[in-house]
Amino acid sequence: MKRQGPDSSTIEHTTDELQHSKRKHEIEERIAAQPMTQCVWPRIFDVEVLTKHLDESLRTGQMTNHGPAAKRLEQEIVTRLNCKKHVAVACASGTAALHALYATYSMLGHDMSSGILVSAFGFPPVLQGNWRNAVLTDVDPIHGGPVLPADGHVPSVICIVNPFGYRVDVRFYRDYCDRHGVLLWFDNAATPQHLMPDGTNLHDIADASTVSLHETKTIGRGEGGVLLVKPELFDVAFRAVNFGYDYSVPPEHRGATYHRAASNYRMSDVAAATILMSWELNWDTIVKWNVEHEDEIVNFDGIPFFKGEKGTFYSCAYEPRQHRPNFEVKYYYYPLLPREKAPVAWRIFDTMQCRPFHPPGGPCPYGISGPNASKPVSGPHSPRGD
Ligand SMILES: Cc1ncc(COP(=O)(O)O)c(C=O)c1O
Repeated sequence: MKRQGPDSSTIEHTTDELQHSKRKHEIEERIAAQPMTQCVWPRIFDVEVLTKHLDESLRTGQMTNHGPAAKRLEQEIVTRLNCKKHVAVACASGTAALHALYATYSMLGHDMSSGILVSAFGFPPVLQGNWRNAVLTDVDPIHGGPVLPADGHVPSVICIVNPFGYRVDVRFYRDYCDRHGVLLWFDNAATPQHLMPDGTNLHDIADASTVSLHETKTIGRGEGGVLLVKPELFDVAFRAVNFGYDYSVPPEHRGATYHRAASNYRMSDVAAATILMSWELNWDTIVKWNVEHEDEIVNFDGIPFFKGEKGTFYSCAYEPRQHRPNFEVKYYYYPLLPREKAPVAWRIFDTMQCRPFHPPGGPCPYGISGPNASKPVSGPHSPRGD
């Protein structure tokens, strides 16, 4: 096949080029024919299966305080995500997991005085509560995480947001943290399962990591989150989600063992059972979609987020901004710094969009009844695209 070159010469199309363009065309046709990106929708919900996962909690009457379902969720997520270096602590949300992460290291006496460095391409919890003093930078245009200090200052922690199932240049940040003896945390709220070239889960590279199990996330249902920490930190992380209380101290003195960075960040058994039910019924479909649609996920020139190996889970289809009449596209993540301070974060935000895996209106819109009823906000400007 021939085409015209810029100087009127004739250029041969290679078979590869032709196949690639045919494939791209097929994918575009497939997308245009859908009313939404059909990863797993509707997610199956089955009351019998839910009750099965809640059975022991109901039988023992323990619906919280690390009940049977929350304990099971902690075991199961580590197995399902093939985490080799961490154990899980069940939390009320991805946000709670981030606060518990900070609390864990505070309780260990880790010196945070040199700051937690995060990039402006993230979600508000990295600037709220325990994280309110985090130091924001623009996005590094090559490495995708925060811009490292050029003045020799070394932060106490680097926290990376690996967005939508993609990863940033984690090796670059791991090397920096190892060289300077500082911590590397991942806010992997939307990236629970990102497979590295050697088949390992991205989480393994972090000192600690968090995942959201919110309804909008691929493996989420309702509310929930997990904090992934090294096994030797489990006891402290467990305290972090329970006000800091030290359960080895007798009840009459335990009250004094609270910690200011800790709080009630734990997961209830109803939430845990709902998520366990959803995994049992939907996990295989999520795997199947992500394997079968692997070629719809691509790396984009100038965007420092990199796709994982086949089997990686994506939380949305990330693509350049374009008109998508069938879809309620979302714009994530609204940069956490003004334009003049974070031009790279804004360039990424302005040029890209997310095709969510749920239909217009969100997986479940905010309630509209009650005295202060207001219409749920939906559409591209919905704050989190719920
Ligand atoms: C990067 C990031 N961090 C944290 C969170 C908070 O998770 P959750 O909604 O479970 O509190 C989200 C949720 O969208 C997120 O995308």
